[in-house]
Amino acid sequence: MKKVLKKIAVFTSGGDAPGMNACIRAIVRTALWYKKEVVGIIHGYDGMMKGEFITLDSKTASNIIQRGGTILKTARSKAFMTRKGMNAAYTHLKKNKIDGIVAIGGDGTFRGAVEFNKLFDIPFIGIPGTIDNDLFGTDYTLGFDTAINTTLQAIDKVKDTASAHDRLFFIEVMGRDTGYIALWTGIAGGAEEILLPETKTDINKLVKLLRERKANNKSTIVIVAEGDEAGGALIIAKKVKEKIPGYDARVTILGHIQRGGNPTCFDRILATRFGVSAVEALLNGESNKMTGVINNKITFTSLDNAVKEHAPLDKDLVRYVKMLQ
Ligand code: F6P
Repeated sequence: MKKVLKKIAVFTSGGDAPGMNACIRAIVRTALWYKKEVVGIIHGYDGMMKGEFITLDSKTASNIIQRGGTILKTARSKAFMTRKGMNAAYTHLKKNKIDGIVAIGGDGTFRGAVEFNKLFDIPFIGIPGTIDNDLFGTDYTLGFDTAINTTLQAIDKVKDTASAHDRLFFIEVMGRDTGYIALWTGIAGGAEEILLPETKTDINKLVKLLRERKANNKSTIVIVAEGDEAGGALIIAKKVKEKIPGYDARVTILGHIQRGGNPTCFDRILATRFGVSAVEALLNGESNKMTGVINNKITFTSLDNAVKEHAPLDKDLVRYVKMLQ
């Protein structure tokens, strides 16, 4: 028989993503709508192990839909992945009478949930919250749309000055394991080359392209995903400069600016859809699943599958890069 849940906990974990607050709001208000209690866990799994629990009411969820970051704070916790850490977390969850959890985060967050559910029976529903858009089982993760728009604005600005000086710029964008941000912003920003962790970077081919452009006094933008296997923007720029001495090249590393800021309308709506459907899934007795959106429909994927592999890049988009150089 389906267990009746009375109290739900929510936490954010891993790298923050714009839209997390909008999602917390949707979770709190939906739970209250169904007459359930809601608790926020501060600092992700770290806070779960230490008992950092706070009651969330409708007021706590007000005036946060537009804010970046996360009111619940976040952390990347190594200690939670140990038996000792999970025992401590379970003790606090039981003490606070939590009988369902919504976890907003990325693959590390869901790996933790999968391991926890092998030992303990408190149901987890995951919400994909990461700017990297690299989770299997959803077309979009929370925060990706905002991050690519922030990144794109910066690229446009660098492009202005690159063009004024006929310069070469290497712009490094986030993406430790996957090149979603690089691919989307590179194409949308009209970059000449995009270096991705998923594809092999051929320095000699890059040098050939850059030599041609230099000879024609053309400015050039090369977008580098931070996780590119040939190195980040600084390393790649150094390799290129060794082969084309005297080339007036500059490096811009966009860094954490890409993770902050007000969520776009798209991310706020996505956050709302994910938050409501995650709470409803818990109340319907679901566990160990991640909400997603595929072809604009809300879907659920097992957490196991969601963390097994990274979402692949769109092959056509990758193909277009060379065609549009
Ligand atoms: O949130 C994901 C991500 O932005 C990756 O793209 C990036 O490599 C990483 O976080 C950086 O994390 P941290 O802030 O812990 O250095």
